[in-house]
Amino acid sequence: MTIRLNSRRDFLVRAAKAAAFGVSGTAGLSRVSAFATPRTPAFAADGNARLIPYGAAVQSDALASDMAYRAAIIANCQLIVPEGDMKWPILRPARNEYRFEKADFLMDFARQNKIEVRGHTLAWYGGMPAWTAAIDSRAEAERELVGHIETVVSRYRGAIPSWDVVNEPLVDWPEDATSLRPSIWTKLLGSDYLPIALRATAAADPDTQLVINEYDIEFKGPRFAARRKALLQLLRSLRDRDVPLHAVGLQAHLFAERAIDNDELQAFLASIAALKLDVLITELDVIDYELPGKVSERDALVARKAAQFLQSVCEVVRPKAILTWGLSDRYTWVPMYFKRPDGMPNRPLPFDADLKRKPLFDVIEEYRRKAV
Ligand code: G3I
Repeated sequence: MTIRLNSRRDFLVRAAKAAAFGVSGTAGLSRVSAFATPRTPAFAADGNARLIPYGAAVQSDALASDMAYRAAIIANCQLIVPEGDMKWPILRPARNEYRFEKADFLMDFARQNKIEVRGHTLAWYGGMPAWTAAIDSRAEAERELVGHIETVVSRYRGAIPSWDVVNEPLVDWPEDATSLRPSIWTKLLGSDYLPIALRATAAADPDTQLVINEYDIEFKGPRFAARRKALLQLLRSLRDRDVPLHAVGLQAHLFAERAIDNDELQAFLASIAALKLDVLITELDVIDYELPGKVSERDALVARKAAQFLQSVCEVVRPKAILTWGLSDRYTWVPMYFKRPDGMPNRPLPFDADLKRKPLFDVIEEYRRKAV
């Protein structure tokens, strides 16, 4: 592979240079970038800058073994994001072992096919390898988190223009911005884990877009209102500490039976825009387990739900990218948690299991063109 491999020395030199500008930061890392300084990745959109770039989460195993799926990704995606291949359990099977085979494979695939890659994810409560449970002091946690980010982000510096640095920071029903989801990071670092992760990523790749990625932001109801409020509070608290951050990722795992809160979502997005943060739609799909079985009806309802969401978003902001969490119903996480009671396969994605285009794809195409 031809990606420049960056050494720890490079990283330390950059961190030291940034420190020389006189701003001190956590973990010896300086604030190499301030909150909401523009950082717009040059995602190519079909070579057509007027369209919003579209992409999908991919699995390297499937890309290697399923040529029809691989061709569909190449034909339809301007960007990809690894569904699992850059998560801790794959990159860090053991404390002193980094495994980059899958991530490198994906980077090579993307480069060969002129597709951009978003990174996912650096600081998350979920899917952590078992060995991390043994981390037991603040200093050790900081060393592991910063060391991981330094190694992974530096390796792909210049090749990953956008990273989901922090994934899903909030509990399901937060009281406020301090309601952070328990993890090894919150246990040992408290809320400092966010600035630590964001600053470490900025130091390792000063040009990459730093994203906080969150789910369940768009629906009607008190739990979702609480999530919007807490997330805004969290963003403002990062701004108040001048922590580097460029964008918010709306995962948009839409539940077909839940109503989108148009007014509240738009007010939320206006507040994000006022903070000068960009918006990305990072994991769109429509969870269809409670929809009628008939496929044509189901596909139409799935497409309509996505259209309601995209209409609401695109009236207020122009998302920097729209990604679905998978391209084809052949590979989707949805049945892991939301199998249909009638036993029929889920159909949450823009292409069906035979890689045939569905109405959801047309809706995404429409909003890629239409957004403000
Ligand atoms: O690779 C192993 C395989 O060897 C083993 O036989 C099999 C048995 O369960 O598990 C396989 O790993 C699973 C992996 O997906 C690959 O399919 C893991 O158990 C499973 O936990 C993992 O789930 C992923 C989940 O995140 C946790 O990392 C899903 O694929 C992935 O779609 C999901 O993605 C998340 C985003 O990162 C964050 N937002 C929500 C989204 C959906 O839940």
